[in-house]
Amino acid sequence: MKKVNIGRNVSIYPMPVTLVGSMVEEKPNFMAVAWITRVNATPPLLAVSLNKPRYTAKGILENKTFSVNFPGVNMVEQTDYCGLASGRESDKSGLFEVFYGDLKTAPMIKSCPLSLECRLVDIIELPTNDLFIGEIMNGYADEESFTEGKIDVRKINPLLLTMPDNSYWRVGDYVGAAWCIGASQRKRS
Ligand SMILES: Cc1cc2nc3c(=O)[nH]c(=O)nc-3n(C[C@H](O)[C@H](O)[C@H](O)COP(=O)(O)O)c2cc1C
Repeated sequence: MKKVNIGRNVSIYPMPVTLVGSMVEEKPNFMAVAWITRVNATPPLLAVSLNKPRYTAKGILENKTFSVNFPGVNMVEQTDYCGLASGRESDKSGLFEVFYGDLKTAPMIKSCPLSLECRLVDIIELPTNDLFIGEIMNGYADEESFTEGKIDVRKINPLLLTMPDNSYWRVGDYVGAAWCIGASQRKRS
């Protein structure tokens, strides 16, 4: 098939949509974040990429902590709102019922099936964004989100994003067992 050059402003396909939380001036604030990834195995580190003027970043710097919450598809409107409105102009502290873990200053969202509390370990400054590296100190999942002791993505039902068409999606069908299904190809290499 013929390849089309699509330029270089290309997004990862797809991205999980998360709600990153911090305490800004002692109030919880949440923003939508899709530019997020795990970046280290041990200790468990993740990175979130925040465009420079984000209000949430102020709280991360104040407390050196933040949370990452995974909303379900059923939370699409509240999640999108957290990506439209800035805490600088709109008080987002009452949007969700919040709980706290060991860190005490990383507000987590009760209605999200999965939440992580993170300790800030580093900031990498890039031209338009700052990469906040956090150590995951604890993860909290709804007890109904498991199948045979493991988190089940169908039960979490996470929200996914594609850009530049700016659309939300849900997870599709199961395909196969990772680190396993490819073994059949060994004889071919
Ligand atoms: C689906 C979605 C994903 C987003 N992902 C990011 C992101 O990864 N990084 C970022 O800086 N802003 C992202 N935004 C924009 C922020 O969420 C938005 O600017 C928000 O109002 C910032 O809130 P705050 O100023 O209260 O921190 C996203 C917005 C949406 C709707």
